[in-house]
Amino acid sequence: MKIMQVEVAVGRAEADSTEVLVLTHCEGEGLGRQDAAPIDKMLGGSLRDLLQSKEFEGKANENVLYHTHGKIPAKRLLLAGLGKRKDLTLDSFRQAMGHAVKRVRQTKADSFTVAFPTVVPRGYQPLELAQAMTEGAILGGYQFTAYRSEDSAGRELAKMAVLVSQKSQSRQVSEGIRRGVATSEATVFVRDLCNHPSNVMTPTRIANEAKNVAKEDRVALKILEQKEMEHLGMGALLGVARGSHEPPKFVILEYNGARKKDERPVVFVGKTVTFDTGGISLKPAENMEHMKADMTGGAEVLASIRAAARLKLPLRLIGILPVAENMPGGRAMKPGDIVKTLAGKTVEVQNTDAEGRLILSDGLAYAQRYHPAALVDIATLTGACVVALGQFAIGMFGTDARLKEQIRKSGLTAGERVWEMPLWEEYFEQLRSDVADMRNIGGRGGGMITAALFLSKFVGDCPWVHLDIASTDWSERERAYIPKGPTGIGTRLLIQYLIDRSL
Ligand code: BES
Ligand code: ZN
Ligand code: ZN
Repeated sequence: MKIMQVEVAVGRAEADSTEVLVLTHCEGEGLGRQDAAPIDKMLGGSLRDLLQSKEFEGKANENVLYHTHGKIPAKRLLLAGLGKRKDLTLDSFRQAMGHAVKRVRQTKADSFTVAFPTVVPRGYQPLELAQAMTEGAILGGYQFTAYRSEDSAGRELAKMAVLVSQKSQSRQVSEGIRRGVATSEATVFVRDLCNHPSNVMTPTRIANEAKNVAKEDRVALKILEQKEMEHLGMGALLGVARGSHEPPKFVILEYNGARKKDERPVVFVGKTVTFDTGGISLKPAENMEHMKADMTGGAEVLASIRAAARLKLPLRLIGILPVAENMPGGRAMKPGDIVKTLAGKTVEVQNTDAEGRLILSDGLAYAQRYHPAALVDIATLTGACVVALGQFAIGMFGTDARLKEQIRKSGLTAGERVWEMPLWEEYFEQLRSDVADMRNIGGRGGGMITAALFLSKFVGDCPWVHLDIASTDWSERERAYIPKGPTGIGTRLLIQYLIDRSL
């Protein structure tokens, strides 16, 4: 998908000649405090009529579009509801923009203007609001058309202008737009990678995508092939890859924008299983196609490296992707097999479908060589996460209160919220094995927790956070700026964390 161009403009909404002028409106309010008051006068009170008749009330997700018949320079006016003023969050604006963009697209216009709102959600600045509006608009227009023939592929908008009334606002707003474009283009990249089917998005293709990312300034790449993994002793990753004809990859990217030489890096590790059949512990057929997105974590790490480079963030960031396909081939791992991990610990594989924690254990052990200032892994790790949290929260675990708090805050800003779960040692008894140092499943209760606890045995003592995105990575229905299918949720959280950390 081509990313819509977004730019700031200075001027008055009632003088702007655009195909569609978008105005946001808070629920249940008259025109007094709203951006649309001067325009209503020029339109002869038709907005007031709409509000009084309650044809449009400004509810979240609500919008109304009509032609202006030359009464103002804009050809059409689109009112976008925000919900009640007291409930406004950055996400109210993302959602309003997501709906607005879909409506504008139906008009066949290819560009539009949105008036920058006079109200900013509590706790945030115009910069963050401009970022959120940009995100909602770009992500609301997302379509995956790679495999559709020309005529069934949808239209795309070329340009959105964000109109500010005072020149003094334009710097903050344009910086917000710059960030919003970066986080959105990263999310689009992730959605695309996840939408491609597993016969295309193989471990080798992931390695090629990483090569493309490494063309960005200051991004270095190293790819370990099977031979080197054997030499290093990555028995867990190799074990998962055994059942597939696709060779595994171990991808390491480094972006260095640090001001200090030898700054300790932030390290992201992403689960990259290009398809998870479950292996010999085969999954049921129903919905198995979702497992083409079991590489979401790795895709998000790749996309955040690219975004950090494009935003030229002043930090050092390492991205690690253990990449494999989990298949039940003739040489596949079998329940009861024991693998030796890179860290030296042995694991009894009682269920080959618990493969994510295996490949991550080698990824996390490898991360130790960088002495991370912060280590964050992100993974579509457990079905238990879906059961516990539904679709609206990412599961968070961690060893460091400060890092957890930073991630929590960045998630709130990004509208990709995390919810902390316990990482208590008591649960470790569920991971005991009779024949190895530990086993890879934890029995009936607390499936999301035992998976996280398994990972914790491979992170040494650096500040670490684990994010389980199995809950959010796939949406059953289309929402304002989230499509049906792969969502890319987690990408903006990771990048927001990097932005917040660099400030
Ligand atoms: N990739 C799955 C987890 C998953 C489930 C992601 C649903 C997205 C949606 C993971 O590899 C898996 O299969 N986990 C097993 C672990 C179990 C065998 C201990 C699970 O959750 O069932
Ligand atoms: Zn699995
Ligand atoms: Zn999996």
